[in-house]
Amino acid sequence: MAIFIEAYTASKKEKDGFKEVTSQISEEDFNNGFCIDKNRMEYLKIYYEKDKPIAFGMMDRYRETGVGSILNISLGIIPGHRGQGLGRKIGQDCINFGMKDKKTVRIYWGAHKDNYKSINLAKSLGFVYLSEDNKGYVCYMIDKTKSN
Ligand SMILES: CC(C)(COP(=O)(O)OP(=O)(O)OC[C@H]1O[C@@H](n2cnc3c(N)ncnc32)[C@H](O)[C@@H]1OP(=O)(O)O)[C@@H](O)C(=O)NCCC(=O)NCCS
Repeated sequence: MAIFIEAYTASKKEKDGFKEVTSQISEEDFNNGFCIDKNRMEYLKIYYEKDKPIAFGMMDRYRETGVGSILNISLGIIPGHRGQGLGRKIGQDCINFGMKDKKTVRIYWGAHKDNYKSINLAKSLGFVYLSEDNKGYVCYMIDKTKSN
């Protein structure tokens, strides 16, 4: 597992919070669908309980040939704080950022196909199935050119 954050202009507090949260997320959870690219990260938000970082939402950007500019969401919550509505809030915060951003044409949500919690959440936030790769990772999307 490799986590990079150097390219993103995050504060030290955000970087430390991100490291603290990701250090408490298991390898199995990561295999369920994270793909973090230091050269593409555009958005990072850390969520706290009191002063303790417990979750993050982040997005990396890339350009897809024939489609345009994409934001790809990753989120993670430390065990003990799941199942209480935080994932939905984080997902919605990411969507709100992507919807306001004029150059973004699609928002993607990726996860392993067995990660039913993540996929249920994505669907309930309005993402629709797009594709699956040969390792079982599925991609869901919100197509801004089709929503109004
Ligand atoms: C996936 C994850 C972000 C969900 O966050 P969460 O805070 O537990 O989710 P919420 O409490 O906001 O629930 C939102 C929705 O997620 C789905 N969900 C959450 N827990 C679920 C469970 N145990 N079983 C089935 N669906 C579940 C449901 O659709 C739920 O909506 P509902 O409450 O109306 O049924 C969290 O489990 C997590 O951090 N997992 C590890 C990292 C990961 O897999 N990230 C996603 C890949 S990028």
